[in-house]
Amino acid sequence: MRLTGKTVVLGVTGGIAAYKSVEVVSRLRKKGAAVRVIMTENAAKLVAPLTFETLSNGPVSVDTFAREGAFDVQHITLAKAADVFVVAPATANILAKMAWGLADDMLSTTLLATKAPVLVAPAMNTGMWTAEATQRNCEILRERGVRFVGPEGGFLACGDEGAGRMSEPAAIVEAIEAILCPKRDLEGLRVMVTAGATRERLDPVRFLSNDSSGKMGFAIAEAAKERGAETLLVCGVTTAEAPADVPLVRVESTQELYEAVTGRAGDMDVIIQAAAPADYRFAQRFPEKLKKQSGAPLTLELVENPDIAAAVGKNKRSSQTLVGFAAETEHLRENAKAKLKKKNLDLIVANDVTQPGAGFNVDTNIAALITEEGIEERPLQSKRALAEDILDKVVELRKRAKAE
Ligand code: PMT
Repeated sequence: MRLTGKTVVLGVTGGIAAYKSVEVVSRLRKKGAAVRVIMTENAAKLVAPLTFETLSNGPVSVDTFAREGAFDVQHITLAKAADVFVVAPATANILAKMAWGLADDMLSTTLLATKAPVLVAPAMNTGMWTAEATQRNCEILRERGVRFVGPEGGFLACGDEGAGRMSEPAAIVEAIEAILCPKRDLEGLRVMVTAGATRERLDPVRFLSNDSSGKMGFAIAEAAKERGAETLLVCGVTTAEAPADVPLVRVESTQELYEAVTGRAGDMDVIIQAAAPADYRFAQRFPEKLKKQSGAPLTLELVENPDIAAAVGKNKRSSQTLVGFAAETEHLRENAKAKLKKKNLDLIVANDVTQPGAGFNVDTNIAALITEEGIEERPLQSKRALAEDILDKVVELRKRAKAE
């Protein structure tokens, strides 16, 4: 009864997958959770509210103006009661309403009022899911911290095949449990995460850099912190918002990142290097803005920067776990495997940064987790979900190393 004492408010919208949410309620109740169900009018046409009432052992709200008790403003009561607010299935319509703050029925009104973490399980036709409007709405929701489970690919009720199928009830309940009972398996560990791009200055107004936003490293640091680790972020230049509760050291150049990381590496149990340091810097840094030379070509010399991951790898203690990333545009696995070895890493996260939805400055990534033992592929998923996978792998590697 892992969820005893927790209240899940479940919003059911008008998708054919609504019948699967009946099983979500049943599974949650078996784990001890109290479940309050809100249905949209369309959902109530697909599955009788009585089914949800019977399984949740409570009233089902559909109408904003129905009154539960004499002075009970129901949508506010439910918004406050939730330890987690789940929308399953979530249609394109409710995602759009959530993204833009529309509140025109019981469910959307309650969603707007809630302060609880929100999880959505989208379900719709592939065309609707991939539509630019829906994807933009999802981006807005993700940026706001709404979590997603699915959708999965497969055969859809409309006869199409593709992404849009609601995740299975077991996966939805697992995602709910991850929110309500977060793992604390990194407690007692010190984890350093690097994030963002470095800048190599040429003169006071120009620099050499790359597109790293910091999103990947921030997602890892946030997840590590939530899982109980004493977490430190060392980051270069970033455009994403850093997690508020993780201490952060700012640097600009690769040399500064090198000093910040190597100076602290000895105190760390786990080091995860998601930053994109510039491999080269200008041989000469000009104190004043370089002037144009009336059409003559300008040749600038670059010199190699230190390799931070390799330096950390060289001084690795046997109790440490070192994770690097490989940002590749070709020969992903081969290049990443070579870096794993050369930098003495325990794990390398290989991402092909040319793939849509992967790499720089997006909320998602596609990765292969490569260790000496083998390769595990991870499909397109949020950077936060990939962060959890990386940390799961770190925990597994540390357990194995301890046992040996
Ligand atoms: O920040 P985002 O917008 O979310 O983008 C995420 C990301 C694409 C930056 C991230 O997923 C990623 O791939 N990070 C590694 C980028 C990189 O520098 O890859 P690389 O293959 O050049 O380097 C391999 C490893 O060595 C990396 O762990 C890197 O941090 C490290 N390195 C690289 C150069 C250098 N001089 N010193 C290093 O330690």
